[in-house]
Amino acid sequence: MTRPTKATIDLSALQQNAQRLRDRAPNSRCLFVVKADAYGHGIELVAPALQNLGDGFAVAHCDEGIALRHLGIEQPILILEGNFDANELALAHHHNLTVALTNSTQIADYLAIAPAQRPAIWLKLDTGMHRLGLTAAEIDDFAARTHQSQSTVLFTHFSDADQSDERTELQLQTLINLGSSLGYSMSAANSPALLRYPATHLDWVRPGYAVYGNPPTGTDAPDLQPVMTVQSRIHSLRTIAAGECVGYGSTWCANRESVIATIPIGYADGYPRSAQNGTPVLINGRIAELAGRVSMDLITVDVTNIGPVMVGDPVELWGKNLPVSVIADYNDLSGYEILARIPKRLPRIAVDL
Ligand SMILES: Cc1ncc(COP(=O)(O)O)c(C=O)c1O
Repeated sequence: MTRPTKATIDLSALQQNAQRLRDRAPNSRCLFVVKADAYGHGIELVAPALQNLGDGFAVAHCDEGIALRHLGIEQPILILEGNFDANELALAHHHNLTVALTNSTQIADYLAIAPAQRPAIWLKLDTGMHRLGLTAAEIDDFAARTHQSQSTVLFTHFSDADQSDERTELQLQTLINLGSSLGYSMSAANSPALLRYPATHLDWVRPGYAVYGNPPTGTDAPDLQPVMTVQSRIHSLRTIAAGECVGYGSTWCANRESVIATIPIGYADGYPRSAQNGTPVLINGRIAELAGRVSMDLITVDVTNIGPVMVGDPVELWGKNLPVSVIADYNDLSGYEILARIPKRLPRIAVDL
């Protein structure tokens, strides 16, 4: 591999973040959320590094859960969206996956199977996000028909934990009212709730984004360190005259003689095509600005003002020294989306510093 573009994945930072999040919710058990290829970090690197630090994992669907089993993960695995058809419940049972029941079809699928063949379940309550989850009446009815044990977990998901305490409190109380009446364990906290709202910790927390070292919007967590750093090196340099333009569509034009560095990373590597002129790029530890439209394999950067640069100089697109949230905020994007969209083309290299 000679192309210098890669994402390094700092497994020590990952483990420290996991421990720090656990320390903030010391009385709760913890599922680390590793869906979408561990938020783009590479499930095969992340899951083994986290497996002794929590009480299990959560993923979106059964295929992701089975992939974890194939990696040798033996801890509990929660399937957050539950099954897509009845056959998946048998598969979940076979692989010892815990399935969330989140709608009435899933309830019907589950009730149609012989009790001995049923996978473990969590029950999801819709407390106001109106995306997934059962009504309180459906859960009461299910509880009466199946005699779930007290170890059953009732969970919900917050719509606004990064910004609205009022909505979060309302959702939390709705969960607690039903959970207490049924005597079930409870889970609600995603990363922003875990960091901002201790009352949401309950029996189980479910952090994702923060484990990867990214404080979600509205949270302050200086003790978390970015796990992924996307790096490359300058491929070529050219000097252009004032008035010349750069890249497809000529969206950036020089207002003075300018030095343009070309970096071998593009939208096919996960660098967002919508990134605007001026997006910060760290070269030799100094901030330069994206100049011109992002291509499939390349970007161009105005390095006129950052001192002498040479072909081969190091470039950081985001990571340890340039949080992904800065790139996201500059471009009105979500850091979650930038990470989750990184394709397999970008090599992930584990480092254990
Ligand atoms: C049901 C559920 N729980 C927990 C999480 C983790 O959220 P975060 O990445 O904000 O910690 C997610 C993420 O989307 C989710 O869908």
